[in-house]
Amino acid sequence: MQTIQTINELKQIIALNNAKTIGFVPTMGYLHEGHQALLNKARKDNDIVVASIFVNPAQFGPNEDLDRYPRDIERDTQLATDAGVDVLFIPSANEMYPFESDINIIVGDLSTKLCGESRPGHFDGVLKVITKLFHLIQPTKAYFGQKDAQQLAIIETFVDAYNFPVQIVRVPTVREPDGLAKSSRNVFLSETERGEAVHLYQALQLATVTWETTDDLTAAIAKGREHIESNTSGKIDYLEALSYPDLKPVTGETKEVLFATAVFFEKARLIDNILT
Ligand code: PAF
Repeated sequence: MQTIQTINELKQIIALNNAKTIGFVPTMGYLHEGHQALLNKARKDNDIVVASIFVNPAQFGPNEDLDRYPRDIERDTQLATDAGVDVLFIPSANEMYPFESDINIIVGDLSTKLCGESRPGHFDGVLKVITKLFHLIQPTKAYFGQKDAQQLAIIETFVDAYNFPVQIVRVPTVREPDGLAKSSRNVFLSETERGEAVHLYQALQLATVTWETTDDLTAAIAKGREHIESNTSGKIDYLEALSYPDLKPVTGETKEVLFATAVFFEKARLIDNILT
């Protein structure tokens, strides 16, 4: 595996690529089994696998956990090597954003729902870095976890709308044996909170089943919320059902429904979802 830090090195490697397929896995590091699933899929599907580790300042708000975001480059490098990554790109913030620019990508309505409501500018920052990485790496396929369903919806829509020559591959959420979605932020949970966190997925399952059996979305959401409220000390940011990928109210025409939740614990905000 080649580990590189600069755009110049990356450009040289990509220029030497002889029409081989490139699978790209963008990450912010502190890799876990969720990332491993993305890397394994990319390895299976492509000739070359490129992964990036970059804690992207553009997608963190002023009061968010940029400085606290967990980092372990040594372990990540080992994990990437074991997963068969060919090129690991670990740029600095200065390398990615060498100068201030007021030309920005602004996500519209899709970013005002769910996580976007409490994280203004977050998805603009995600698209900023993804655009740069896609231009630099020129991947055939790029791999994203379903756990970040709103991010996935926005990236799928963006790539489609602006004809990026890349196929977005959706990879199912990887869970702990008790159902908790794997996340780099799980390390911030206290022991008690870790025990409670399993109820996010259970609440989503309860809401989904209630909706499927009664067709009553309001009752389904209420049941899900009540489950979290009575089984955790967390504060619900949202628990909602929207159409996927346009994140609009569910109607009779809706093909895919996204049940999604975000819950604040003391030191971590956890998200989870079910797409049905
Ligand atoms: O999902 C993430 O880890 C990040 O949002 C991404 C896609 C790597 C962009 O920084």
